[in-house]
Amino acid sequence: MLRTHNCGELRIGDTGKEVTLCGWLQRSRDLGGMTFIDLRDRYGITQLAFNMETNATLCEQARELGREYVLQVTGVVTERSNKNPKMPTGDIEIIAARITVLNKAQTPPFTIEQDTDGGDELRMKYRYLDIRRDMVRRNLELRHQMALETRKYLHEQDFIEVETPVLIKSTPEGARDFVVPSRMHAGQFYALPQSPQTFKQLLMVGGIDRYFQIVKCFRDEDLRADRQPEFTQIDCEMSFVTREDVLETFEGLAKHLFRAIKGVDNIRFDRMSYQDAIKYYGSDKPDTRFGMRFVELDHLVKNKGFKVFDNAELVAGICAGGCGGYSRKQLDELTRWVQRPQIGAKGLVYVKCNADGTYKSSADKFFDQDALKSWTAAFDAKPGDLLLIIAGEAAGTRNALGELRLEMGNRLGLRDPKSFACLWVTDFPLLEWDEETQRFYAMHHPFTSPVKEDMQLLDTEPGEVRANAYDMVINGVEIGGGSIRIFDRPLQEKMFEVLGFTPAEAQSQFGFLMNAFQYGAPPHGGVAFGFDRWCALFGGSETIRDYIAFPKNNAGRDVMIDSPSPISADQLKELHLKNI
Ligand code: AMO
Repeated sequence: MLRTHNCGELRIGDTGKEVTLCGWLQRSRDLGGMTFIDLRDRYGITQLAFNMETNATLCEQARELGREYVLQVTGVVTERSNKNPKMPTGDIEIIAARITVLNKAQTPPFTIEQDTDGGDELRMKYRYLDIRRDMVRRNLELRHQMALETRKYLHEQDFIEVETPVLIKSTPEGARDFVVPSRMHAGQFYALPQSPQTFKQLLMVGGIDRYFQIVKCFRDEDLRADRQPEFTQIDCEMSFVTREDVLETFEGLAKHLFRAIKGVDNIRFDRMSYQDAIKYYGSDKPDTRFGMRFVELDHLVKNKGFKVFDNAELVAGICAGGCGGYSRKQLDELTRWVQRPQIGAKGLVYVKCNADGTYKSSADKFFDQDALKSWTAAFDAKPGDLLLIIAGEAAGTRNALGELRLEMGNRLGLRDPKSFACLWVTDFPLLEWDEETQRFYAMHHPFTSPVKEDMQLLDTEPGEVRANAYDMVINGVEIGGGSIRIFDRPLQEKMFEVLGFTPAEAQSQFGFLMNAFQYGAPPHGGVAFGFDRWCALFGGSETIRDYIAFPKNNAGRDVMIDSPSPISADQLKELHLKNI
């Protein structure tokens, strides 16, 4: 080893020891008689001291060293006269006796410190320098711990990790595939997996009754803070289980991770149907750290001459506790906020519940005090509260009100990143109708089983069939999703038929799975978690990029290696793509 200790471990008890440290020069201070260098490695920072009086040559050498030089330093651990209680190593310094420059460094393009002056794009271009920052390194360490604890828990539950292929077959369902041209098979393409879904089901047919994999998945879709084109799943599948068994097993995983990583022991999982999630929160991933549930007002407000309400498919609102004192300016600002195209509401009706028991509303031309009182009763509102009401087409209104609820939650400090509200959202619709293509799509994927009671509706009212599917939602983030699967050929064929596949199309695209179902497929079900999202949630961030060592930017580019990039004419030819 080139070092005896790391830069984070020496303490006052080590005084007098001769040590050798290696690391990067974080900062140096030349005080005339003395020069100090902060030496950084993954474990911390240790101060090196150079004394002009006792070793002028070495001190002069130290003054010449630039930021981010890679150094090896030997010296004696000494108690500091000027201690720094903010640093774990702040009681000591190394009186340097020998210094070796292991490598020089150009001045970095941004400061490698907690508060860096580097913008996003610059830090991504030099991500290897960004990773030297405490915060990024800590995020990667968290990710490592999460992976380790996940493997530990699943191993203890008899799951085995099996790798599935990365070069697979393109299928039309789900998001867009990334494809890879084949050199050996002209005009043919592999696809990168959007998830190992069909392979894990085939592993169940193979008798591996508890499978998991921490696995890269690829989806060519529009990117957001919580979406990357390549991301990682904790992918799991189990045989001979009911939905309850799956939920219990993975509540167990969540509780284990909360305990091991966050030190939180009192995690409880709620259940909510998809229908209730939409009705009361306007979202299939409600943030239940706070209430502010929707109240529907149609029965109280319709046919009173107020056109906005009379013409609406839905009138619903939320009660913002303690906001009754909002000024006109604040209410105008909120109204503009909901009218932004991203939110899409036409307007906002408010009712202030005054301290004296009276009400003030933007619609009080149409509604007297008694009417307003009946609304506030529906919300169980108290004096000092504020009702915020949106009207319009039902889905859009719920969506806008859901966004407004989250915004008010933020403004009122009700979304504390240190508190956790976990739930399973269940009973999703099996199918979604798409107006544009005039066909049904699987809401989850085509391998999800309908709930038993709704099975007979598949022929008559497919849109009404509920799926035996579930999402794990924590603090309003969809952490994972899964389902009990179809495991017999006739039902799988039926499903493809409902999705508009001809029998020949179904056979050519998914014949491998349906054939396997004919050789004794066990009943099975599973789930996959967004590993990057789970890391971000535990790290207290909304951006999964912070937890990925080398992420893509919002345009799907890796600006460090400059990818995607053109390939040579020869390569194109070899891949039979010469017409590009
Ligand atoms: P699903 O498509 O719901 O299910 O994905 C599972 C989880 O993966 C995460 N996720 C993403 N994370 C980052 N970037 C993305 N682009 C991205 N897309 C999805 C989410 C999501 O909940 N095979 C099924 C699972 C199953 O049925 O077992 C599947 O992939 O957290």
